[in-house]
Amino acid sequence: MTMKISPSEIIETPREKLSAFGEEVLEGLSAHPRKISSKWFYDERGDELFQRIMAAPEYYLTESERSIFQQQAGAFLEATNGQPFDLVELGAGDGTKTQYLIEHFIDEGVDFRYLPIDISAHALDLISDLVNRRWPALDFHPVEGDYFQALNNLPTAQGPKRLKVVLFPGGNIGNFTPAAAAAFLTRLNLRLSDGDLLITGFDLKKNPVTILAAYNDAGGVTAQFNLNLLHRINRELGGDFDVSAWNHWPTYNPITGATRSFIVANRDQEVRIDALNKSFTFKAWEGIDLEISQKYSLGEIEALAACSGFRFERHLSDDSDYFVNSIWRVA
Ligand code: AVI
Repeated sequence: MTMKISPSEIIETPREKLSAFGEEVLEGLSAHPRKISSKWFYDERGDELFQRIMAAPEYYLTESERSIFQQQAGAFLEATNGQPFDLVELGAGDGTKTQYLIEHFIDEGVDFRYLPIDISAHALDLISDLVNRRWPALDFHPVEGDYFQALNNLPTAQGPKRLKVVLFPGGNIGNFTPAAAAAFLTRLNLRLSDGDLLITGFDLKKNPVTILAAYNDAGGVTAQFNLNLLHRINRELGGDFDVSAWNHWPTYNPITGATRSFIVANRDQEVRIDALNKSFTFKAWEGIDLEISQKYSLGEIEALAACSGFRFERHLSDDSDYFVNSIWRVA
């Protein structure tokens, strides 16, 4: 016997309010092509894996930028024209590279404050430890939160308005598409005043072999870093991804400069995610788009400065010309 149920009798199980991560996973896995933002790579395990990537011999970006900071700290200072300034660092990480700049500014007796901004309290704790240990007298104000909110709420200094020197290091701008980078930089420009400086780290176009190796290290750490997103879905959203059924697949397009990382299903599969109250079917060799790490030419960087309201001043590059810190001024 079949029983008829009228629509009014169908009781939907109310879904608990989803986290922002849950919302984006739902949207990203329901879309075609499928896509999840790389900003979700950075849970505790992801942070640990990223530290290991930065130490991997193939991941040249960290050492390139470190050498620029170490060897050319004087050029950063020259750009301030001897004015007192606030060094505002976006996404400060653990401060290991910035310490070369701070050391130099202190040695030169410069009047500056250091204001690192980070969404992660843990990152700010690491920097606070470093500062307290090495430069206890430094005028230091860590600010936790979203970059734009934090820029609106920086603690004011005594005396006349100071020049802002905003540092956006690490090649993080590469994790935006060029269009999104222009929108982000324009928004940043609107938060700054005439004469303020923005110094951004850009990874440059170079031999594709070098670039691809950086995103496909022989030790397999980058593969683990990407696949950790599936572990994170399993841990936080009650997913049942079999992570061994997915392959890491980085690509580099020398025309557009986009390095893209995908994960690819190596067999047909159905994955249940409890928090989304949903199952997803993946065909063998179907991919999920996870990350862009955009590479630029010097000309493209200068054009980006102009289209986001800055005046390009100079590029500081490493000995191999792999990476630049590009200095721009609010025009
Ligand atoms: C944080 N960001 C600049 C890194 C990059 O190079 O895009 C993240 C990364 N992804 C894989 N390896 C490193």
